[in-house]
Amino acid sequence: MKRRNFIRNIGIAGVGLPLIPNNLSFDLSGNKNIPVHSPVSITTWNFQEANRTAGELLQKGISALDAVEQGVRIEESNIKNHTVGKGGAPDRDGKVTLDAIIMAPNGNFGSVAFLENIEHPVSVARKVMEETPHNMLVGEGAYQFALSQGFEPENLLTEESEKQWKNWLVEKEYKPIINIENHDTIGMLCLDSKGDIAGACTTSGLAYKMRGRVGDSPIIGSGLFIDNEVGGAVATGLGEEILKNVSTFLIVELMRSGKSPQEACEIAVERIVKKPTDLKDFQVAFLALNKNGEVGSYCIHPGFSYALHSKGDEEAVQSKSYLAEK
Ligand code: GLY
Repeated sequence: MKRRNFIRNIGIAGVGLPLIPNNLSFDLSGNKNIPVHSPVSITTWNFQEANRTAGELLQKGISALDAVEQGVRIEESNIKNHTVGKGGAPDRDGKVTLDAIIMAPNGNFGSVAFLENIEHPVSVARKVMEETPHNMLVGEGAYQFALSQGFEPENLLTEESEKQWKNWLVEKEYKPIINIENHDTIGMLCLDSKGDIAGACTTSGLAYKMRGRVGDSPIIGSGLFIDNEVGGAVATGLGEEILKNVSTFLIVELMRSGKSPQEACEIAVERIVKKPTDLKDFQVAFLALNKNGEVGSYCIHPGFSYALHSKGDEEAVQSKSYLAEK
């Protein structure tokens, strides 16, 4: 399989224009005339390995739902990443608390929030969706449910994260460097060969947050939304700003009304920036994917990139941004 791994400058290549103008082909073998979609996987930030894993699973015919779960689990286990899963930055009390959501093509979703001591919140979220009559479990209830499903408890606070937290305790001032420390979420959208879309989003949230704080990631319509008739959207960045605007639901509804994924992401960012907020302090970024395999991305500050797996190729793509254009 041919692989590329480079930053593509959207100013030249034009992300948001249909990347896959003809996403559909037909399998005429045996005169079946079954539509075959070209799988697409997109993931926030530079989580290339996770995205490639999902993309390659899709190429093998794995469902979008399985691909997003398997893909994001890679970052949940990556202890070098201080914004997701094990090794994630703790809250101000030194506890790692995780949020995650997964949404299926059938419109169902599962999510967990304020979950401690479990490495793979996305898989707990999937169990919530598939094994309970509910959609969301939090805190101790989510933890007890995870144990009942066979998940093993473990300490998620690594030496490195503990050291950084202890440094923070000296000054108790935390000003994340935009696009560097704010890589706060892995969000992934997949379109499989049957044309179904699923998504997942998982995070340790804002570093040194107040105990009990939950961001946008596990909240349906904020961190993630999928409508299999239209497409999906996922968010990363400062959760408080995304929550106030229910941004991923907005993006999907804009696509339903005829906007391209790129146009929809731009409108969602503009909704945030036109409110009285101080843009210099935070980043917000969105990815969107529609049923034709077209993708879009927009953020506030330049510097947000995403991983794209399409037609067997893996790329890192630089997103357009509001502040670079205004
Ligand atoms: N976007 C992740 C968070 O704010 O928790």
